[in-house]
Amino acid sequence: MSEATGPLAGRTIVLGVTGSIAAYKAVEVASRLVQAGATVRTVMTRAATEFVGPATFRGVTGHEPLVDIWAPDGEHAEPHVALGREADLMLVTPATASVLGRLAHGISDDCVTLTGLAMRGPLLVAPAMDAGMWANAATQANVRTLQERGVTFLGPLEGRLASGEIGAGRLMEPVTIVDHIKAAAGRLDGALAGARIAVTAGGTREPVDPVRFVGNRSSGKMGYAVAEAARDRGADVVLITSAELAAPAGVRVAPVETAQEMLEAVEEHAATSDALIMAAAVADYRPVEAAKEKQKRGGRETWGIDLVRNPDIIATVQGERLIKVAFAAETQDLVDNAQKKLVEKNAHLIVANDVSATDAGFAVDTNRITILDRDGNQDELPLMSKYDCGVRILDRVQELLAARG
Ligand code: PMT
Repeated sequence: MSEATGPLAGRTIVLGVTGSIAAYKAVEVASRLVQAGATVRTVMTRAATEFVGPATFRGVTGHEPLVDIWAPDGEHAEPHVALGREADLMLVTPATASVLGRLAHGISDDCVTLTGLAMRGPLLVAPAMDAGMWANAATQANVRTLQERGVTFLGPLEGRLASGEIGAGRLMEPVTIVDHIKAAAGRLDGALAGARIAVTAGGTREPVDPVRFVGNRSSGKMGYAVAEAARDRGADVVLITSAELAAPAGVRVAPVETAQEMLEAVEEHAATSDALIMAAAVADYRPVEAAKEKQKRGGRETWGIDLVRNPDIIATVQGERLIKVAFAAETQDLVDNAQKKLVEKNAHLIVANDVSATDAGFAVDTNRITILDRDGNQDELPLMSKYDCGVRILDRVQELLAARG
């Protein structure tokens, strides 16, 4: 992705670190935030410094962490107030049961809770603790209080805990935490903040019998990248997908399998969406009937399966204000075929990609796209990451949304 222009470029983020074994993972979070272009200001409880030293955060972020509420920082009379006013958002990771309790009750006796209380922008917390502590009624009451006040919880996850026990209390993975921070930063003032975008991804699977299906080579990578790019600009994104990739953070996922299921999900979500971007490879045909039992090979040398046409989802879905973006997967006459599909599917834009190339199209991380519009313009783009393709497609969607008013 282009970090220089990503949602964290130029942001100031307060990273609150509290005393948990998972504190070492906050170092990776800090590093990823810095790499994404953010200025990271770390605040730590004394207990956190028992697990990771301030020097590590100083080295990774380039700024001295605040640990002692009485120590002057040389710049501000009250550093925590200055940070709370200047930062775009604050993340507490890992957040212990103790810090959740103090934040919920406004007790501000360390640098993390002081800054949390002074914070003007969004507060996100990623808890990590023993499963029993997380389940405890006192913790859960504090969680509810904080949620009611608009604090966003990232996890905790179910999994193996430091005690060796399996349960809820595990810290979310740093990469996922950072994706959630990108989504939160995008929602602050991203170019698509407030817009609702539905994206489709993956190849539909049309059942032949309980174990076989008619499918295609789509991995879902293109659609997921578009969904992430839209999320990073602040859009409320629903990803209607038949792919088996991990759900992107900060994106609602509607899993489907067949073209018929995808049609129903698209119709449901398009009704409340500003734009529909169909990166999915929808099977044009499905078996007339899926057998209830696994079909035996028997003595047959050949096997014919009768297929029936699937509905054309993007052509079917209507909406006076809906901006429709189709993809065209072609192996020849790329632009001519895409132009025809733009008209047939009544789309505003069509994104043509040559799926016979080895570095573009199906299942790779890069793509080479040409964006065609209704006015006959063709924007032929060089090879780039699928995320960057998403960025370029969303630039055009944004223009259309602005023109629509
Ligand atoms: O998922 P990846 O591995 O990352 O691969 C990405 C991709 C190559 C699948 C993607 O970039 C792409 O080209 N998607 C569209 C594939 C396709 O089905 O193209 P098409 O030319 O057959 O269809 C044209 C458009 O109509 C597409 O937007 C498609 O979603 C839509 N369609 C097609 C058939 C149908 N019954 N209903 C539809 O809505």
